[in-house]
Amino acid sequence: MEKLTGLKKTRTAVFISGSGSNLKNIIKFSKIKKSPISIDLTVSNTTKATGLQYADHFNIKKKIFASKNFKNEEKKILLLLKKEKIKFICLAGFMKILSKEFIKTFDGKIINIHPSLLPKYKGLNTHGRAIKNKDKFAGCTVHYVTGKLDSGKIIMQKKIKIATRDNSISLAKKVLKQEHKLFLDAIMKIFN
Ligand code: GAR
Repeated sequence: MEKLTGLKKTRTAVFISGSGSNLKNIIKFSKIKKSPISIDLTVSNTTKATGLQYADHFNIKKKIFASKNFKNEEKKILLLLKKEKIKFICLAGFMKILSKEFIKTFDGKIINIHPSLLPKYKGLNTHGRAIKNKDKFAGCTVHYVTGKLDSGKIIMQKKIKIATRDNSISLAKKVLKQEHKLFLDAIMKIFN
């Protein structure tokens, strides 16, 4: 990633599909002086993303692209990203798979947070699978997005211990808490 020049923050979009706790955390971080990014756009693929409330709360532009034909929506998203001069994208609980063409346009400029210790448990239900397999550790990963699902170069990971009393809900909660810190650490790492 290009180093910061002067005091200009990199114009960033956050893509979400759900509760947006990572979005909220990234927005708060983006406001502090040392943040290399500013959040200028929130994109969702569903009207059900309750996290969109944070875009409203922090007065950040938000757009929902919920049509079934997501390929078509991607074209519209790309136009919007261009219009808003977005240079960096954070996928924060975004549950749609972006096309190879889309990713190519932002090659090396899209990062994703995934709730597992990749390359273990790509895809969905990561915590349930870790518990079923009696894993001792779970965690989260921030990685670059490539055309292959959850497979791009790893930027940072955080490992946590799975307690014997954990179920997939309690584990998800614990991991999410770590995600909030890891996402910011990964952003700082990329830009420094
Ligand atoms: C997070 O746990 C994130 O890692 C996960 O969705 C949750 C979103 O939470 N992402 C994926 O599973 C992507 N494959 P949030 O909306 O509260 O940030």
